[in-house]
Amino acid sequence: RPLEVDTGDVSLGGYDHYMLKEIFEQPESIRNAMRGRLDDQDATAVFGGLNLTPQQLRSVERIILTGCGTSWHSALVGEYLIEGLARIPVSVEYASELRYRNPPIENNTLVFGITQSGETADTLAALRETKRKGHRTLAICNVVASSIAQAADGGVYLHAGPEIGVASTKAYTSQCCVLAMLALYFGRTRHLSFEGGQRLIEELRRLPTAVQQALTCDEQVRDVAKKYCDATNVLYLGRQYNFPTALEGALKLKEISYIHAEGYPAAEMKHGPIALVDEKTPSVFIVPRGTTHDKVMANMEEVKARGGPIIAVASHDDPHIEAIADDVIRVPQVQEFLQPIVTVVPLQLLSYHIALLRGCDVDKPRNLAKSVTVE
Ligand code: G6P
Repeated sequence: RPLEVDTGDVSLGGYDHYMLKEIFEQPESIRNAMRGRLDDQDATAVFGGLNLTPQQLRSVERIILTGCGTSWHSALVGEYLIEGLARIPVSVEYASELRYRNPPIENNTLVFGITQSGETADTLAALRETKRKGHRTLAICNVVASSIAQAADGGVYLHAGPEIGVASTKAYTSQCCVLAMLALYFGRTRHLSFEGGQRLIEELRRLPTAVQQALTCDEQVRDVAKKYCDATNVLYLGRQYNFPTALEGALKLKEISYIHAEGYPAAEMKHGPIALVDEKTPSVFIVPRGTTHDKVMANMEEVKARGGPIIAVASHDDPHIEAIADDVIRVPQVQEFLQPIVTVVPLQLLSYHIALLRGCDVDKPRNLAKSVTVE
């Protein structure tokens, strides 16, 4: 039975919908995820509940990140973060697949179940199954004392506050933030230097302000939504750290506006999705400054050449985007690793405004539940 969300005494606080309130809470929820967890002295992160000895920490040879829906997307972000900063191999698994696939899992593998609610049946079952096999299991969850928090050997709470809107927003950015801190923590036991750790801490501390700035695009996004609310297909394209952002942007649109949307790594576009491009199919490009910026720009050109409308999420000071994109939504530049936490914000708002214009029930979309406690 899908779990009914009890709004309890969580008020709308002047917002029209919980989803909008939760989108706007993100500067604060991210701050809360980091509170007390950044250690300047050792340029690392600290977690009270991981329950790992330094020896266990040092002996980790592989990490599995598993979850469903939006939480699975945060796992993809975590893969880039942990592999990039800590050089530990990471596999990302759909919990629903992991629980039955029976993959060989090496010794010294750490399994993280990522779930906002802590009650998702598949995530819980995947975690229990790997624990039964003798692997160390940890939870990254929001709801305190949830089933997964009790089942795991340890874990990290998001402290994002109650998330009522069925489409996850603030829990996602908090999950990404916790994964960034875990990458810092693991990194500092391995290849990440003291200076590298310090730099990352500085960048993490800038995040709440950067997200606050990103939220100022709300009015502009509403105008963009008006242009595209009648679309029947939308493509979302991004690369590397922002490939998961493309998936998450597409999922948000599907979930609450019922428009068909696909997220792809931008370079994969030419292997299929480009066939969908026409003047009625908008493409949302996530193209902040970074390693693959110019390559993604080239993909944008290809879409433009085929008459496809383009919405670009770009860095504040990028002068070349307007020449190609029809609409440019600007976000502040943060370190490449952390960019997904900022670039997802306009995409959350875009889906919100499109859903609203289409008369959809934003907080309670049809056929979906906040927490899926059945298989
Ligand atoms: C449902 C919700 C999604 C959520 C997913 C995983 O499908 O509608 O918003 O991402 O479950 O939920 P969890 O609580 O495990 O993060």
